[in-house]
Amino acid sequence: DLSPSDKAKLAAAKQASLAIETGMRVGLGTGSTAAWLVKCLAARVREEGLAIKCVPTSTQTAELARGLGLDVITLDQAGTLDVTIDGADEFDAHLNLIKGGGAALLQEKIVATASAQMIVIADSDKEVATLGAFALPIEVIPFGLESTRKQVEEMLLAMEVEGRETSLRMKETAPLVTDEGNHILDLHLKRIGNAPQLAMTLNQIPGVVENGLFIDICDRVIIGSGDGKVETRD
Ligand code: A5P
Repeated sequence: DLSPSDKAKLAAAKQASLAIETGMRVGLGTGSTAAWLVKCLAARVREEGLAIKCVPTSTQTAELARGLGLDVITLDQAGTLDVTIDGADEFDAHLNLIKGGGAALLQEKIVATASAQMIVIADSDKEVATLGAFALPIEVIPFGLESTRKQVEEMLLAMEVEGRETSLRMKETAPLVTDEGNHILDLHLKRIGNAPQLAMTLNQIPGVVENGLFIDICDRVIIGSGDGKVETRD
């Protein structure tokens, strides 16, 4: 028996999976909601003979997709993608997002940007008036980590962002290592006044590889609820 939260995620994933047609190249997101999408697509492949090629955004999703019999290729083999379907940690009324709660933001952003369309699947808890209550993840290279962190903190001070605390994401007792061999700094900002500006400024700091703000990348959000209903935002 599924929890209301899983029912909501499944409802959104199922609806999004209907956008996929034979011949498409599809980006597969990462996280618990995206995992439902992978299962829905695998079911359509099995039951309807849907023929698609998939590009995962993490080793976690790649393993799940392969295990369920999906045809997994690399982004460079695919070239461009028709659509990417992924979860998010927060979305706002402009369909701007915070992603990276699952530490896969770098591959997720590259794959979404290479796609003609990005669809986000979520439950209603992810909807916010202003981004930033969820800590913003940034991916930083291990070399000079503390120096990069200081630059980030100084930049936040200069930009007069409300919350300025940063924390290095851990996995058990060691810093978490991403699929690309980097670390994650979580920025506890509370509210992000100017998300496009912050996204650009962060990426100008040497050592910052990418940030979890997805600005003007997402085209549609499908919101699932526990009773199985879905709502679409374009
Ligand atoms: C992974 O890095 C994230 O961007 C996920 O898409 C995000 O954390 C959503 O995950 P859930 O679907 O598990 O909430």
